[in-house]
Amino acid sequence: MYKIALLPGDGIGPEIVPQAVRVLQAVGEKYNREFQFETALIGGAAYDATGHPLPEETLDVCRNADAIILGAVGGPKWDNLEPHLRPERGALLPLRKKLGLYANLRPAVVNPALADASTLKADIVSGLDVMIIRELTGGLYFGEKRREDLPGGGQKVVETLEYTTAEIERVVRLGFEMARKRNKKLSSVDKANVLESSRLWREIVERLAEEYPDVELNHILVDNCAMQLVRNPKQFDVMVTENMFGDILTDLASQLTGSIGMLPSASLGGEVALYEPIHGSAPDIAGKNLANPIATILSAAMMLRISFGLETEAAAIEQAVDRVLQQGYRTGDIMQPGKIKVGTVEMTEEIIKALE
Ligand code: NAD
Ligand code: IPM
Ligand code: MN
Repeated sequence: MYKIALLPGDGIGPEIVPQAVRVLQAVGEKYNREFQFETALIGGAAYDATGHPLPEETLDVCRNADAIILGAVGGPKWDNLEPHLRPERGALLPLRKKLGLYANLRPAVVNPALADASTLKADIVSGLDVMIIRELTGGLYFGEKRREDLPGGGQKVVETLEYTTAEIERVVRLGFEMARKRNKKLSSVDKANVLESSRLWREIVERLAEEYPDVELNHILVDNCAMQLVRNPKQFDVMVTENMFGDILTDLASQLTGSIGMLPSASLGGEVALYEPIHGSAPDIAGKNLANPIATILSAAMMLRISFGLETEAAAIEQAVDRVLQQGYRTGDIMQPGKIKVGTVEMTEEIIKALE
């Protein structure tokens, strides 16, 4: 029996998380696995119900689970609360930090059926399979932040980018290990021409590289990297980078796959791992059955593989997604001429049918 904590959150979160649950239930029936789900409040939904975006009870549910599936948090309704009450800074970041989830794996894989769904030319993206590892509990997100009033009027803001050797080392090591299991190419993304944190990052990468002579390493500056991802994304295999660079580059990379609604993620490093789509709460389409559930469903597949070691079951979900896309079913974000437009729920139903 596997215990899964569900944190639907806000916006499209409560629409997409139940789709992953339905797919997991179908997989459970087919392969005779028992999944037990416990739902907890997070984000704006938790703030509205309890006055805090990350209730202690939610943390308990997470710590007692074997894995966590999260939808998304945030939305215009909560954007102007004090920082510690806002869904992003008051819930999502502390959750990642408290659970020790320092490595965020974001695979950008172009599904063959979607090679011409991208806004880039098909030959640039088709066959793309890159793994971006984003450091998740350090950097600008977690450094000291403060504001001061200036005597002559106006304000001064301080936002610090902090990393320790140990924090960099553990995530970079994961990058080398991952590269070793894939095509043995690691690109370390930094801004070493300007940032001191990037200089330390690069030194550590260089030092660890000696332990991985079989991995072809290159350092790339983040601005060039953004350009290269659009110019020729297939030059990359595994990428590793700090928190903020990884946040930005993965939204960019998601569009190569056709839509941000396609990209799953796994956050690892602590006792319990967290799985979530890389997209947000999409307030513009929430509550309309328009959201693409595939990123969340593929996150559930990552959970089966990484947290539970259920490779066959994970692959079954991925193949079902492939089949449904091959059959021509599309949510609005990946819609193409001549294809069959479906909503969030209907897409899931097709994926479940394809499992059988
Ligand atoms: P977003 O990812 O929510 O949306 C960006 C665009 O992509 C929107 O047009 C949206 O409709 C579309 N989109 C996103 N997911 C989709 C899906 N599954 N199917 C179809 N289309 C999809 O980013 P945003 O608009 O910048 O942020 C909205 C809110 O979400 C903000 O409050 C932000 O802080 C929050 N956010 C939360 C998370 C998270 O919880 N992990 C991640 C990113 C953003
Ligand atoms: C993500 C999101 C979050 C991040 C926000 C909502 C704090 O954009 O998961 O990519 O920047 O990490
Ligand atoms: Mn993001």
